[in-house]
Amino acid sequence: MSSLRTAIVKQFGNPTGVVGRIVGLILTVRPSNRERSQKTLALLDIQPADRVLEIGHGPGLALGWAAALASAGKVVGIDHSLLMHRQAARRNAQAIAQGRVELFAASANAMPDFGAPFDKVLAVNVHLFWNDRLATLVKVARVMRPGATIALTFQPRQPGATEQDAFEGGERIAADLRSAGFQSVRVEILKLRPVNGVCVLGILPE
Ligand SMILES: C[S@@+](CC[C@H](N)C(=O)[O-])C[C@H]1O[C@@H](n2cnc3c(N)ncnc32)[C@H](O)[C@@H]1O
Repeated sequence: MSSLRTAIVKQFGNPTGVVGRIVGLILTVRPSNRERSQKTLALLDIQPADRVLEIGHGPGLALGWAAALASAGKVVGIDHSLLMHRQAARRNAQAIAQGRVELFAASANAMPDFGAPFDKVLAVNVHLFWNDRLATLVKVARVMRPGATIALTFQPRQPGATEQDAFEGGERIAADLRSAGFQSVRVEILKLRPVNGVCVLGILPE
């Protein structure tokens, strides 16, 4: 792998600097990146009054799409990359000014007080970067209302990634969600190129 490619791949977990800008561009224009977020939002079945949290929003496209769906609700985003926070803030400036979107430069491990619980939570190709996935999911569950839905999407992107990688990733996420107390956990296959992804959904018990 070329050194530039290696540098870019490493950056996906916390984009910074010039290479981070290339990562932001890839996340913005690559069709499968856009599609996997759109498919995740469709599976979440966002309702107009929903409060939605996106963890690891990257450049912020899905925040805007979610805000259009939660037209009478609110969309909150957190990302620990200051660069992604700034890019998402620029992209969603109008919705932020209207109070329909709110962004925090924060880690899923140390979330701010959001003031009210969420009905829907999504994280797209983010869970794989968490050091202690179970502990983080337990913290995420605390900011959700009983009966709320979480969707964790994973598309393997390493060279030579296969459907089997996606399937195994989905099984691991499903196991993590069950361990964190989520119920009705199910794995949906996302038809994507160059390789399919998975969206794993779970419901916080009432
Ligand atoms: C591969 S990018 C995906 C971005 C976006 N969800 C998408 O699919 O286009 C992963 C994003 O998650 C963020 N991220 C990773 N771990 C995080 C954590 N623990 N807390 C907050 N953000 C995190 C990174 O900064 C990056 O913006």
